[in-house]
Amino acid sequence: MTLTERRILLIVSGGIAAYKSLDLVRRLRERGASVRPILTAGGAQFVTPLALSSLAEHKVYTDLFSLTDESEMGHIRLSREADLVVVAPASADLMAKMANGLADDLASTALLATDKPVLIAPAMNPMMWQHPATIRNRERLQADGVTFVGPGTGDMACGEVGAGRMAEPLDIVAAIEALFSRATARLHGLRALVTSGPTFEALDPVRFLGNRSSGKQGHAIAQALADHGMQVVLVSGPVALPDPTGVEVVRVESAMEMLAACQQALPVDVAVCAAAVADWRPERRETRKIKKGRDESVPTLHLEENPDILATLSRPGPLRPRLVVGFAAETEDLVDNARAKLARKGCDWLVANAVDDQATVFGSERNEVRVLRADDGGVAEDAWPAMSKAEVAKRLAAEIVETAASAPQPTDGVPA
Ligand code: CTP
Repeated sequence: MTLTERRILLIVSGGIAAYKSLDLVRRLRERGASVRPILTAGGAQFVTPLALSSLAEHKVYTDLFSLTDESEMGHIRLSREADLVVVAPASADLMAKMANGLADDLASTALLATDKPVLIAPAMNPMMWQHPATIRNRERLQADGVTFVGPGTGDMACGEVGAGRMAEPLDIVAAIEALFSRATARLHGLRALVTSGPTFEALDPVRFLGNRSSGKQGHAIAQALADHGMQVVLVSGPVALPDPTGVEVVRVESAMEMLAACQQALPVDVAVCAAAVADWRPERRETRKIKKGRDESVPTLHLEENPDILATLSRPGPLRPRLVVGFAAETEDLVDNARAKLARKGCDWLVANAVDDQATVFGSERNEVRVLRADDGGVAEDAWPAMSKAEVAKRLAAEIVETAASAPQPTDGVPA
């Protein structure tokens, strides 16, 4: 996701983690954001205004009552002209000021004067983080609508171990992107449909044909899209996973049920088909358990083809989602097969991953994918580095929201 033209007011307060904020500035600039830094007196003990302004390529604001600052840009304008205010690191002291509405320096005054979303990355000693006063402050800040990223757990610079480490710069960037996507998705009222898990095709009341799909990738995508502010319907085959939060879940067993549930969820802006749908189903479903014959003959299974849900959703028509994303697990000729599949199914993007014969993708946590995009008659290909399924889901969700929000509204075929 790009942060081009996003204006971020970054407040750096006191704490050893302030050195990581320099990297955060670099990452934000790389993505095209403009960063205006405010450095508190405590923050200036750890990083210099010069380092911060060099990386931000912008003046650093420090004093509330600086004659030059106030004449160039008052603290009110400073906080209003941003799209987002980020506090990283957020010290226990600054959190306490925010929770109580104190305004005795430039940072706390800008935070009190802002009408923009605020994201904070706390960093402090574990005892301070666990202190009832800090717990009270963070509950109050959450109730005020402040978003938190971190803190993480681990060795602290003070020698203690516990929760209080500032989130890593890239995690803060991901939280910033999610906040912007959320705003975009809400603005456009985007709706998504996700399929996940295997399908079970019944032979009789106790037996079925199925596959090893865990549903982890599809469920992670449904969660990530909801976290990015989309309204999500998840149509899931039988899985042993908890329901994602903030997502409407429709449970199904067979491919036929999955197709019906998907059609029921239309219209949507985006469809992501991550389910491992069985290609065939038994021609007949016996109403009674199939018994072993006395003559010890082995039954023959007659199969018929299941509908292709991805291809059905991709078909042109008034209910076609603006963006249809498929998945492909291939054991050989990954790119050629994936390109052919993209064309055959008629979807817009195809997320392809290589499966070896140990079937590591199914049920595993990590994934190395290539994303193919149908593009003006051609296909653009993007190789992503190995990452967890949750990270694949987050990156995909960010790109989906950006694309869906900018894609033209589908025409309904009715002349104006
Ligand atoms: N898919 C679907 N309905 C089906 C079969 C597949 O919606 N009946 C979707 C999957 O959810 C996935 C994509 O199609 O997004 C590709 O699935 P895959 O099993 O790789 O493709 P197949 O069409 O089954 O091709 P093959 O098994 O021959 O590789």
